[in-house]
Amino acid sequence: MKILYVTSEVSPWAKAGGLADISAALPRHLHARGHEVLLVVPLYGRVQRAGLDLTPVPRGQNISVRIGPHELRFSLHTAPLEGSDQLVHFVHCSQLYNREGLYTQDDDEHLRFIALSYAALAACQRLGFSPDIAHVHDWQSAIIPLALRCRYAWDHKRFGRTKTVLTIHNLGHQGAIPAHKLQDTGLADSAHLFHQDQLDAGIVNLMLTGILYADAVTTVSPTYAREIQTPELGMGLDAFLRARASTVVGILNGIDPTEWSPETDKRIAHRYSRADLAGKERNKYALLTSLGLPYVEGVPVAGVVSRLTGQKGLELVLEVLPHFLARGQIQLTVLGSGASGLEEAFSALQRRFPRSVCFYRGFSNDLAHQIEAGADLFLMPSRYEPSGLNQMYSMNYGTIPIVRATGGLRDSVQHFDRQTGRGTGVVFDHFNAEGLRWAVRQALDIYSDGGARAQIRDNAMSQDFSWQRRVAIYETLYERLHRG
Ligand code: ADP
Ligand code: GLC
Repeated sequence: MKILYVTSEVSPWAKAGGLADISAALPRHLHARGHEVLLVVPLYGRVQRAGLDLTPVPRGQNISVRIGPHELRFSLHTAPLEGSDQLVHFVHCSQLYNREGLYTQDDDEHLRFIALSYAALAACQRLGFSPDIAHVHDWQSAIIPLALRCRYAWDHKRFGRTKTVLTIHNLGHQGAIPAHKLQDTGLADSAHLFHQDQLDAGIVNLMLTGILYADAVTTVSPTYAREIQTPELGMGLDAFLRARASTVVGILNGIDPTEWSPETDKRIAHRYSRADLAGKERNKYALLTSLGLPYVEGVPVAGVVSRLTGQKGLELVLEVLPHFLARGQIQLTVLGSGASGLEEAFSALQRRFPRSVCFYRGFSNDLAHQIEAGADLFLMPSRYEPSGLNQMYSMNYGTIPIVRATGGLRDSVQHFDRQTGRGTGVVFDHFNAEGLRWAVRQALDIYSDGGARAQIRDNAMSQDFSWQRRVAIYETLYERLHRG
């Protein structure tokens, strides 16, 4: 099949979170199975500065697209995905993408990604690529299903066969813009096709537009697929998702063992495997030493690697961990950045417990791997979690995940039962301090019992989160859309 894949992130060059990992892995696996994937991503300033060897696409120069009052010019440049000959097509438009980060709070944030969507469709036309599937991700490319039905409906040769799939990675970001900016969607002539109640309320919601017009809507775990159809986690869109319930499916994300495996990981000090875990303790020593913390035999290290946002529930960590830190029962390494309140709170925690807490503010791929390998426990008390990747990375590294039973965390971690010896982590139900406190106690008990610790690690490391099975599910979905 020919698959157009449009996304705002791709690992490792353009990464804010898990979307980047997925947007590298899924296209690579589709390509390996013989599909032709046109993977389109913005050429962010960050990518340009990464010193990547970019090749200009001869037929992809001087593309101009009119979006409302904006006349935008793009060019296309390619580079192969790491470890594959699948190409990434980067959309170059300095005016839009040459900024500090991937995402901004700028007034034209919506336009940056609506433009990406049109650039991707223009790329299909320029390159003579007639997609069987346009697979779009989150609000950033969610305008495409509607654009194909109106603005591009004339181009039957290119898009006559195209079926659309919208994957929701996070309903917390919907791309809601004021209705007076309707022109910036490039579809002002088709205003009647947007949701009229929302328009009357003064809003154009790009995610909703995708939900209404995509041929299929997927999300990144079966539990999240159910949760977003409820008022609790539907973020105002649950009724629309219920209306499309027959097309909403949840496919749990996979993980990429070439990137995240303790046997081959080049970013960690000592490699190890399920059969020989000796290197794990040495990684713990290396991690603590590099962060300036003492190694204390028998005291487990808990890790956090996360965007610091309300979604991740980290205020529970701040509330619950001091009790255990004060008693010398645990050490904590936190890698992340985001909300200033959370950054300040983790800095304060480090000041209060300088020998047992290290907060590294920022983004570091190396340290993320070193925490996965060196920590004993991994904390993900998320308020909601569409899929989550770090709990799966943790299990692969024999690091016990402590997760809240939500979304993909619920679907990927089984609570450890000491009677039967089954289970891969610690799972708590209620989003409150009592829930996390209970879970940390459970984890400390498992950790201090050598037999239980070995068993849970072995269970976790024997899980299969590979992409192979997941790619087959996407393929079946694509094929089903074509059978009608
Ligand atoms: P989300 O996409 O909601 O942020 P995921 O668990 O799906 O959550 O994916 C997060 C990804 O981003 C993981 O690969 C994780 O290692 C990475 N990550 C998050 N914060 C950082 C950071 N500060 N430094 C390095 N990697 C990070
Ligand atoms: C989002 C979600 C996360 C998911 C990732 C990739 O960022 O928050 O749970 O793993 O997308 O699908």
